[in-house]
Amino acid sequence: MDQRTSVRRTACAAGLALLLLTASTACTGGVEGTPGAAGLRDPYFPKLGNGGYDVTHYDLALDVDPAAHRLRGTATITARATQDLSSFNLDLAGLTVQSATVEGRPAAVNRAGRELTLRPDAEVESRLRKGRTFRTVVRYSGSPQTLTDPDESEEGWLRTADGSVALGEPTGSMAWFPGNNHPSDKASYDITVTVPKGLTAVSNGELTSRSASGTTTTYHWHIAEPMASYLATVAIGRFDTKTSTTPDGIEVFTAADPAVAADSAGILDRVPEIVEWEAERFGPYPFSATGAIVGRPGDAEYALETQSRPFFPGPPDAGLLVHEMAHQWFGDSVTPESWRDMWLNEGFATYAEWLWEEDQEGNPVQKRFDAAFDDDENWAFPPADPPTAADISQAPVYEGGAMVIHRIRQAVDDDKRFFALVRGWTKAYRHGNASTADFTAYVEKTTGQDLTELWNTWLYGGSRPDSKD
Ligand code: TRP
Ligand code: ZN
Repeated sequence: MDQRTSVRRTACAAGLALLLLTASTACTGGVEGTPGAAGLRDPYFPKLGNGGYDVTHYDLALDVDPAAHRLRGTATITARATQDLSSFNLDLAGLTVQSATVEGRPAAVNRAGRELTLRPDAEVESRLRKGRTFRTVVRYSGSPQTLTDPDESEEGWLRTADGSVALGEPTGSMAWFPGNNHPSDKASYDITVTVPKGLTAVSNGELTSRSASGTTTTYHWHIAEPMASYLATVAIGRFDTKTSTTPDGIEVFTAADPAVAADSAGILDRVPEIVEWEAERFGPYPFSATGAIVGRPGDAEYALETQSRPFFPGPPDAGLLVHEMAHQWFGDSVTPESWRDMWLNEGFATYAEWLWEEDQEGNPVQKRFDAAFDDDENWAFPPADPPTAADISQAPVYEGGAMVIHRIRQAVDDDKRFFALVRGWTKAYRHGNASTADFTAYVEKTTGQDLTELWNTWLYGGSRPDSKD
C-alpha cells in the first residue's frame, strides 16, 4: 500500500467512526469504491449485464467432453473500470465456480441466481479506480445448461446429434462463460476449445491454430472486431470444413455436419457471392472472416447470426443465408444499444431478403411491402416497442421493421441516396452500438427531412394506417 492510499484509508475510517456509520458515502471519494450494478436495466432483461466496468477482451479456454456433457473453462476477462469499484458482477447461469482472481489475487466469490459477485481484496480494490484496466480470471466447470427464452425458444448450450452448439440470443452466453452479458458491452475474443480427437470446434473469427495432442484436439479462434456476447458461439461435432479467401481478402471458413454436407455444398459455395452482393449495398463487410456453420435440422429451432459465421440448423436456402449474413452489418457490427432496438437488426435483415428476392427472382420489394402491410400479424405492436420480452422475436419486429426501412426509401425517393444513407449508417456506427433514437436522428440529419410523421406511424404507431403511403 503506498503512503497516499494508507493516509486516505485512515482518514476515511476515522470519519466513519465519528459519524457512527451514518455516512458511508463520505468514503467514496477515498479508497473504497462502490459495488458495480448487478444489471444494466435493459427494458426487457433488467438483470442482464453489469455496471461499473467495460470488457475489452475475453479469453475463453474451454475443455469440452460432449459425450459426458461436461465443460471446464477458464475465462480471462480484461476490463476497464467505469467507476471506483469495491466489487463487481458477472452473469453466469449454472456451472460451478472453482476460483476467481482479480489482478492475480484471489477474490471472494458469491453466487446468487445468475449473478456472480467478485470482491477483490483490499490491496486490489485500491487499484480498481475509474479508468483503470484490470484482469479477472474465473475457473469454472459443470454441465452447461440449455436456457428457455421468454418466447419459449431454447438457447444457451444445446446438445446436438454429435456434440453441442452454443447460441446466445438474447441471454444464452452466460450458460457457457461468465461475462457482461448485454449487447451494449462489446469486446474482442479469443476462444480456445479442446475437444476429443475426431471432433471439430468451430467458433467466431479466424482459426489461428489447431493442435493435436494424444486424445484431444485444440482449436484456437480469434475475433479482433468487437463482438456482443450474444453473438459468440462454439459448435462442436463432426464437421466437413472448407476454407478459402474472397477477392477482398476475407477468410471464408465453412463447416457442415457430414449428414447435411452434400446438401449444403451448393449454398455454402455462394457465401462469397452473397457477402459481396451485400457489401455493394450495405458497405464494406465488417469482419476479417466469414463463413457459416451448418448443423442438422433439430440441432436448434432457428438460425442465428453468430458473428462472422452464422449458424444454421440444416442447409439454408439463399434467402435465409442472405438474412443471417445481412445481420453481420445490422446487429453484429452495428449492435443494438438495448433489446428494445431489436427492429434495427431484424428490420434490415428482412429488408435484405426483400432486396435479394427482387434482384434474383424479380419479385418487386414493393410487393413484399404490400403483403407485409396487409398481414394483420405485423400490426400486433409497434416495431420499436414490443410489449414484452417474448415479443422481440415476433413478426412486427421483422416485417414491421422492414416496412419502416422501405418507408424511409420512399421518403428519400432516390435509390442512390437511399443506399448511400444505408452505407453511411453502417459506417457511422461500425463496430459500435446504436439505439432507435440514434437511427432516427441519423436519418433526419442525413436527409435533412423532418420524418416525425413516419416514425410516429410506422415505428411507434402499432396500428395499420389507412393508406400505405
Ligand atoms: N436473430 C435470429 C434471426 O432472425 C432469430 C432469433 C433467434 C431471435 N433467437 C432470438 C430473435 C431471440 C430475437 C430473440 O436471424
Ligand atoms: Zn434475423
